[in-house]
Amino acid sequence: NTHVFIMAGGVGSRFWPKSRNNYPKQFIDILGTGKSLLQLTYNRFLRLCSPANIYIVTNCQYKELVQQQLPDIAEENILCEPSRNNTAPCIAYAAFKLAAKNPDANMVVAPSDHFILYEDIFIDKIRLALDTAANQAALLTLGITPTRPDTGYGYINFIKAGENGIHKVNRFTEKPPLEKAREFLVGGDYVWNGGIFIWNVQTALTAFKQHAPEIHTLFQKGNEYYNTDQEQAFINQHYPHSPNISIDYAIMEKADNVYTIPADFGWSDLGTWGSLYEVAEKQDGRNVTSGNLQLENTENSIIHLPAGKMAVIRGLKDYIVVDDNDVLLIYPKQDEQDIKKVTEKLKSGS
Ligand code: GDD
Ligand code: MG
Repeated sequence: NTHVFIMAGGVGSRFWPKSRNNYPKQFIDILGTGKSLLQLTYNRFLRLCSPANIYIVTNCQYKELVQQQLPDIAEENILCEPSRNNTAPCIAYAAFKLAAKNPDANMVVAPSDHFILYEDIFIDKIRLALDTAANQAALLTLGITPTRPDTGYGYINFIKAGENGIHKVNRFTEKPPLEKAREFLVGGDYVWNGGIFIWNVQTALTAFKQHAPEIHTLFQKGNEYYNTDQEQAFINQHYPHSPNISIDYAIMEKADNVYTIPADFGWSDLGTWGSLYEVAEKQDGRNVTSGNLQLENTENSIIHLPAGKMAVIRGLKDYIVVDDNDVLLIYPKQDEQDIKKVTEKLKSGS
């Protein structure tokens, strides 16, 4: 009764210029394993349930990419969004579609772009969360021990006392400013939101109804069309009118039935170049590189060159250097969250 929805519709703008609008990072072999992040994610969930129960939710634009990378997936298991409205409508669509088919289903919602080292622990914790979700109206997330005041994550303050390692969440704060993130880190009793959500589909629908009624109303209108040949037409017409908001702001910050399972399974959100630096193998233990490089007195940097290009670098510290086709990026690592703004500026033409 477990259904997994992998969200693969983001653009990965902080990984620009490797991640592009027409080929975002979840489709790239960013770790050099021979598999894209999406393929790694899909294979991981094959350990939890059958392929018939694994869905990809993505933008219509990437449907063919998904089919190329996951040739075994059934076409009806690819949910296509006609516009980018962030993760709340993406998840609402998935929940309504699933409930129309199987009103008692349990649901795992997962990002497509994470690195997970200890898959056994990961799967065990998901199973524990699913058991809880089946018996209780709980919105569950996996909590990661924070290691730095990163402003790119949700911070979860939980009440220590849960049985079986499941703790009630006191407060969920999405992407706090640096000062707040520092405070949270010092205070303890905080975990990062791992971005993986587990719940019964009815619990999800109730949460949308309470905290995001506009989204609930919009997708409820589709109930007679889901899983029919009119589903895509309904979605194409109505999806773009949904509020543009992430699940974290729309539901998780507001709901009072949120629970977290602290779990350390060698997790990294490969959201930025710096997060890749943390998990990737380092040349001489000092830099993450690809390409033909001669480095001197260079450290804590990420340097990506295309095949056939050579670079000589001396005295570079804490930088991101990415040479990708028509773009050369040279950017201080500490400002990496701002790479997103660069892509927004370019889009708006200013
Ligand atoms: N289908 C679809 N449609 N997928 C989307 C969309 C969309 O409009 N927008 C984003 N996604 C996908 C991304 O591809 C990614 O796999 C996942 O949803 C999460 O989106 P991100 O944009 O990467 O979110 P984030 O990293 O900034 O923040 C979330 O994840 C963090 C942990 O990685 C939040 O949940 C944070 O609280 C959390 O700490
Ligand atoms: Mg992310």
